[in-house]
Amino acid sequence: MTPAAFIAGLPKAELHMHIEGSIEPPLFIELARRNGVKIAWATEAELREAYRFRNLQSFLDLYYDGCRVLLHPRDFYDVTRQYLARAHEDKVLHAELFLGPQGHTARGVPLAAMLEGVFSAMDDALGEDGITSGLILLAQRHRSQAEALDLLDSAMPWADRLLGFGLGGAEVGNPPSKFVEFFRRCRERGFKVVAHAGEEGPASYVREAVELLQVQRIDHGNASLDDPALMALLASEQIPLTVCPLSNLKLNIVSSLETHPLKRLMDAGLCVTVNSDDPSFFGGYINDNFAACQHALGLSRHEVVSLARNSVVASFMPPEASKTALAAIEAYDRNAEAWTTT
Ligand code: HPA
Ligand code: ZN
Repeated sequence: MTPAAFIAGLPKAELHMHIEGSIEPPLFIELARRNGVKIAWATEAELREAYRFRNLQSFLDLYYDGCRVLLHPRDFYDVTRQYLARAHEDKVLHAELFLGPQGHTARGVPLAAMLEGVFSAMDDALGEDGITSGLILLAQRHRSQAEALDLLDSAMPWADRLLGFGLGGAEVGNPPSKFVEFFRRCRERGFKVVAHAGEEGPASYVREAVELLQVQRIDHGNASLDDPALMALLASEQIPLTVCPLSNLKLNIVSSLETHPLKRLMDAGLCVTVNSDDPSFFGGYINDNFAACQHALGLSRHEVVSLARNSVVASFMPPEASKTALAAIEAYDRNAEAWTTT
């Protein structure tokens, strides 16, 4: 079988995926029509043409603007359900999803409306496809720590259903150190904590996220390679990185997949995972990311299986579910045909 066919059937988890970044163009146009929201693009082709980005900020500008079509519980339901169905097709057994409520509440959408839609989509996906999922709320780092603390307080009625909190948005100039108190309180209240770091920002931001915020995972983390002592720390503590290769290509974090740091991070002994970030904007879901990296970096079958195993180890799944998922990966690898070279 081809490496791509092997990847298509390989059980895995996805740990870095923004719900707002998974609105496919046809649904985006449908939501705009349904909600009477004026958008600048009339057709799917025009939308896809707009998805060319210089850097993270040029993407975020379009992404935040696109969020205007999300207003009602049903909208959040449709987007989340569509993503989970697509992930299930990619043999994702478990997905940990990001939602950034602050942009939506600023437009007058109550947190209850967002969460009602997202949680019922997660329930239906579990019932209909058997895919498990969890939700991580992201604070936007261009906003103040006081606003992040307000987000935490406002989410308390749903504390039992939330996995944790994270940090996203415009990285440079907004270091993790700005959010020490927010993360301390999230941890105190028993939430898992993660942070985007080292995507456009420097290795020192990754270090701050680990040392000051005490995060359990780093989202992206590419820049870690610039600091050998940090690399040693990430390897010895096995702090996972949720790497997003096609996102990095689209946002010009890397100039080609052939030069992507994924394999160097793996070779240094880090717990690296592969994820899609904002799949509808960046040209691929998780299997597209796996297959493109396998091809560009010449990853071996053993390396591809390690990435799938890492995705389970790095997840916040309960231990029993994690054991079952790891066994499914081993069984798949044992029984799948040998790779043919393409
Ligand atoms: N980086 C920071 N914030 C984001 C991203 C990203 O890649 N995607 C959605 N919000
Ligand atoms: Zn992201």
